Amino acid sequence: MDAIEVIVAKRDGGELSAAQIDWVIDAYVRGEVADEQMSALAMAILLNGMNRREIAGWTQAMIRSGERMDWSELDRPTADKHSTGGVGDKITLPLAPLVAACGAYVPQLSGRGLGHTGGTLDKLESIPGWRASLSNDEMLGVLRAAGAVICAAGSGLAPADKKLYALRDVTGTVESIPLIASSIMSKKIAEGTGSLVLDVKVGSGAFMKTPERARELAETMVALGTDAGVRTVALLTAMDRPLGRAVGNALEVEESVEVLAGGGPSDVVELTVRLAREMLEAAGVSGKDPADALRDGSAMDAWRTMVGAQGGDPDALLPRAAETMTVDAPESGVLTRLDAYAVGLAAWRLGAGRARKEDPVSAGAGITLHAKPGDLVRAGQPLLTLHADETSRFERALEALRGGYEVGPAAGETLPLIIDRITA
Ligand code: URA
Repeated sequence: MDAIEVIVAKRDGGELSAAQIDWVIDAYVRGEVADEQMSALAMAILLNGMNRREIAGWTQAMIRSGERMDWSELDRPTADKHSTGGVGDKITLPLAPLVAACGAYVPQLSGRGLGHTGGTLDKLESIPGWRASLSNDEMLGVLRAAGAVICAAGSGLAPADKKLYALRDVTGTVESIPLIASSIMSKKIAEGTGSLVLDVKVGSGAFMKTPERARELAETMVALGTDAGVRTVALLTAMDRPLGRAVGNALEVEESVEVLAGGGPSDVVELTVRLAREMLEAAGVSGKDPADALRDGSAMDAWRTMVGAQGGDPDALLPRAAETMTVDAPESGVLTRLDAYAVGLAAWRLGAGRARKEDPVSAGAGITLHAKPGDLVRAGQPLLTLHADETSRFERALEALRGGYEVGPAAGETLPLIIDRITA
């Protein structure tokens, strides 16, 4: 077999055979298929698509390129959640210990942020001492102690995806639903979870800008999980405005701890509890209700154990940025719009995110929201507080926010927090 034959087949709108898919992924990892050939194939896939059989084969080939984790020695079912990413999306932080407190194990492999969306590991790394890199034995130890573990995926998990994702990033081929779905699901299936809940974000701050595209991605991923024997369900949720009132690493940890203490913003609490119920149902665990576990402190206990078992001090003061600046309401009325992308871009420019994989992030940088769409505001009242380590960052953040919020006479249109639920 050779690469040109596979590229030409997809370029001409054909269906790739199982043998072609297995060969091209394996040969790419071995270096026999060159980056420029894989770029051409990725572009042909972006333009001509893949059917369900091809996507399943592609995903399985990427799983086979690395190790597959196994939690069968644990005495309770495992459940995991994956979010396609958004602004202020810190849900994994309260969710993992919450689900653990209700009786399922949560082995959660997470990533770092790139661009305007934050990464779960960056957020947790703002806790002094907390470690993202664990061996498989350490992961098992944290799971046994706390019921949940959140850590970095090792280099052995779906290495074909790592190589291909980096290539897609620089060849304009990220936005292909078959390639996104197989990329996400190869890692989640290789992680060995028994059940999976997908939070597919919709809106300006998300990968998928419209409910139609998000639904297509969700349906593709649910089919892939189901075909691989993982009980999989997806929610489509709003990302036209930021989630919660905190955007930025340490700021989001603080907000997550508020949720675990029984408080926190209502949208974060509602989504956390809903996703927890979905995870428990998918795992077949019926015991304590997540809302009760937030009230009675058991979710907080699991959080403290989990953070401590990964070297973090759950009582430590979190880093704060040295400089702050407020953005005030230009007039009195209703906050009709607070655009998720504008807020995410501003937080990124304040130092909360990175442009390249190897860049550092600021733990304290970010944005606190004092009002959400639909709230009444008075002229001159603070709408946002910007946090940065240097005042020189404020100007470009303000530029990002220009046109990103509006105060008017009546409430504007916003997406419902939970838009739809997709099952197999
Ligand atoms: N996240 C992934 O892991 N892969 C993609 O292709 C897109 C988002």
